[in-house]
Amino acid sequence: MPIATPLTELLGIRHPILSAPMDTIAGSRLTRAVSEAGGFGILGGGYGDRARLQAEAAELKGFAPFGIGFITWSLAKQPELLDIALDAGPQAVMLSFGDPAPFAPQIKASGARLICQVQNEDMAKQALDAGAEILIAQGTEAGGHGASRTTVDIVPAIADLAAGRVPVVAAGGIADGRGLAAMMMLGASGVLVGTRFYASVEANGAAGAKERIRNADGNDTVRGVVPDWSRKLFWPAPFTARTLVNDHIKTWTGREIELMQRADEVSKDYAAAKMAGNFEIAAVFAGEAVGLIHDIPPAAEIVERIASEAEQLLAGQRNSTTAAQDQFLPSPGGGGSLRM
Ligand SMILES: Cc1cc2nc3c(=O)[nH]c(=O)nc-3n(C[C@H](O)[C@H](O)[C@H](O)COP(=O)(O)O)c2cc1C
Repeated sequence: MPIATPLTELLGIRHPILSAPMDTIAGSRLTRAVSEAGGFGILGGGYGDRARLQAEAAELKGFAPFGIGFITWSLAKQPELLDIALDAGPQAVMLSFGDPAPFAPQIKASGARLICQVQNEDMAKQALDAGAEILIAQGTEAGGHGASRTTVDIVPAIADLAAGRVPVVAAGGIADGRGLAAMMMLGASGVLVGTRFYASVEANGAAGAKERIRNADGNDTVRGVVPDWSRKLFWPAPFTARTLVNDHIKTWTGREIELMQRADEVSKDYAAAKMAGNFEIAAVFAGEAVGLIHDIPPAAEIVERIASEAEQLLAGQRNSTTAAQDQFLPSPGGGGSLRM
């Protein structure tokens, strides 16, 4: 029985699973595949490559449902990109990393839902004041940019703050049905999943990057500034990026001031490595959930697996993956309803 939550109701979706707007990795193909499987796909608006956004958004025009996500501080430099996004008719626009207020009225006037990803209570209050209709509480386990609070801490804190006014979605470290079920126990209405969808057939990532995610374990990621500073990209505090550890990160971690001083030279090498698919220099943005990822299936299979495993766990069926889990199953006989 599908899990019905305020999130599934608001977005009109079958499963409470959103795919993250992972910059260029989350193109229209992944977005479409996730939505067709009953989740909610969100196209990555990334850093504002206008031609790319136009092409990807055009692929989704007339399709439903889908969202488009922007890095808010980057959108502020090219606010006209929002027009391109809204012209494609998304059911939601997701804003992360910055004040959503300047963009909220235009998004809401278009009829799209405003989703805001936040990393602490002040950001959540700012988003609610701006009119956010869905809050994503992102923990530090997340792949890509984020801050320092853990998912298990930030999700219930934001759920308490939202107090039922808007659905809260958990992000950071979720790659299977155990994660979805656990987040629902913490007060979330669903999950936003990035890294797990990176290692899918439809994600735009290079095959070599996907293989690295598949082969990595939870010890193999680190959060820091080296990948950004190596491409002369200076994010505002408190945001840093979680990536797989590679030779380049090992070389420069602890030497960030020198990296800044040599940014011209390093960024040239970094860009060349990225072009060449050399992931010992170029970073693979990925979260701690890499340890839970062992294959590169179609996105629809990922949606189906997460949904069905969570459904079984929440229904109290003792047929899931580990014995340890069984110790914590809710007692069966809750009336058969999965409404959360
Ligand atoms: C490769 C990659 C790129 C990302 N790029 C963006 C982005 O452009 N905008 C954004 O809001 N979040 C971005 N994120 C963060 C996601 O929105 C989300 O918080 C995160 O993926 C959730 O954690 P998980 O990776 O453990 O599932 C990115 C994440 C990854 C893995």
